[in-house]
Amino acid sequence: MKFFVDSAVVDDIKQAKALGLADGVTTNPTLIRKSGRDFREAITEISGLVQGPVLAEPVSETVEGILKEGRELAGWAPNVYVKIPLTRAGLEAVQIFRKEGIRSALTLIFNAAQALLAAKAGASIICPFVGRLDDIASPGMALIREIVDLYSNYPDIETEVIVASVRNANHVVEAAACGADGVTIPSKVIEQMMKHPLTDSGIRQFLADWNKVQ
Ligand code: G3P
Repeated sequence: MKFFVDSAVVDDIKQAKALGLADGVTTNPTLIRKSGRDFREAITEISGLVQGPVLAEPVSETVEGILKEGRELAGWAPNVYVKIPLTRAGLEAVQIFRKEGIRSALTLIFNAAQALLAAKAGASIICPFVGRLDDIASPGMALIREIVDLYSNYPDIETEVIVASVRNANHVVEAAACGADGVTIPSKVIEQMMKHPLTDSGIRQFLADWNKVQ
């Protein structure tokens, strides 16, 4: 399973990379704002740190605007994918990008119908948001299972399912159990995944015993 870092903060990406957990990076306008960096500078630096896709999002809502911004983003580094919210304009833009050899990801996906349209348009990646579905009492992981099952009926679909809006370690484990291609996760979830109180107490016990025999 691929691990993308859901952050535009260079230190987050470096730390995940040291753990072998930076197969790609996802950003969005909110994450760019939180990083406090200039958009182009941040994406260019991040793209040099990882080999895999770095997703950067235009803010235009028209086909023409998405194409203009997306072409510029794709020119910043060879591994930049244009990340576009799933709208009519987004679907149109993805098909044009595909013909131009620009790879794209469709984001803000909340149901299986949108996931089917995204695959049909030829998006390289889709980002269904599990946490935001859970927030409105609609089980996010049920959507991932549904999309993975649907896509598996059509072996010619190459669109990867990268689970987004991941809020905890269980989301990651469940995404793996569903057979998602990957997850995009914030640093705090990587930290959570490493932690278990029995690991900590076990280490303390080992050290205490070791010190007794010195
Ligand atoms: O990759 C999408 C992610 O950044 C959204 O997460 O927690 O704001 O729903 P969240």
